[in-house]
Amino acid sequence: MKGIILAGGAGSRLYPLTLVASKQLQPVYDKPMIYYPLTTLIEGGIRDICIISTPQDLPRFRQLLGDGSRFGLKFDYREQAKPEGIAQAFLIAESFIGSDHVTLILGDNIFYGGDTFQKAFSEFKSGAAVFGYHVHDPERYGVVAFDTSGKAVSIEEKPKSPKSNYAVPGLYIYDNAVVSIVKNLKPSARGELEITAVNVEYLRRGTLRVQRLARGFAWLDAGTSSSLHEASAYVQTIEKRAGIKIGCPEEAAFHAGFVSLAQLQQIVEEMPHCEYRAFLETEVVAEAKRLH
Ligand code: DAU
Repeated sequence: MKGIILAGGAGSRLYPLTLVASKQLQPVYDKPMIYYPLTTLIEGGIRDICIISTPQDLPRFRQLLGDGSRFGLKFDYREQAKPEGIAQAFLIAESFIGSDHVTLILGDNIFYGGDTFQKAFSEFKSGAAVFGYHVHDPERYGVVAFDTSGKAVSIEEKPKSPKSNYAVPGLYIYDNAVVSIVKNLKPSARGELEITAVNVEYLRRGTLRVQRLARGFAWLDAGTSSSLHEASAYVQTIEKRAGIKIGCPEEAAFHAGFVSLAQLQQIVEEMPHCEYRAFLETEVVAEAKRLH
């Protein structure tokens, strides 16, 4: 399974924050936004990751994340010249995907709780797997409706009259057919290759699975000033209460077995003294030593 993080877009809803740094580089409490989707992919065991952003922002992502080796990963950076739709990611990353399955995660989507995605990745065989999350404002999202047996029957992008309260979050698992599906898509009225159109095509083929995310699961999108603030507050609340970190790729990479304890120690030693380093030292490195 390959992974793609889509971290481009105009960032206009966060202006003027996005004048000098893109949305996915903004802080969500104590770390850059992209750390959260990156951690979700690492937790799912995905090591080959393509990061797609604008020509202006891509160098900053490289500066932040490097070649991926410090997380035991391999990064491939690709430009999206213009924001011509989420589904365009599969055309930009076609040679990166090769003949594999692929998971796309949006760079401003934050997930927390449970092992639903890990299971979905390991059990995935073919077709498409997406998720449904109960929200109060479905009209802002792709909306999936179910029949009485729980089977998905429709998916619509930002419908004026949503048929359900289930939004489709920005994590999509596809088989290799996604590339040819996107090649046959026509841009929508707003001039974009829509991710919802991809899901509709899998639904038409009868190969789309939609799993409803449990109530205890958190899905936050940090695309507006308010939702960015709320996401920060959420992360702060959980981290302070539990003494953990959400969205810490170094920790996830260590637990996934992508970096050894010795490598993690080396990485931590190179960090300046700060709360982030202290967490890794005391809660991850020292804890691992205690258990061995
Ligand atoms: O957050 C989940 C929702 O994401 C889904 O429910 C919708 O079906 C899906 O269309 C999308 O809706 P948004 O209104 O959030 O899409 P937006 O245009 O804001 O793009 C989402 C992220 O993807 C954003 O961080 C910018 C990035 N992006 C977007 C486009 C259109 C790109 O990097 N390139 C693009 O061309």
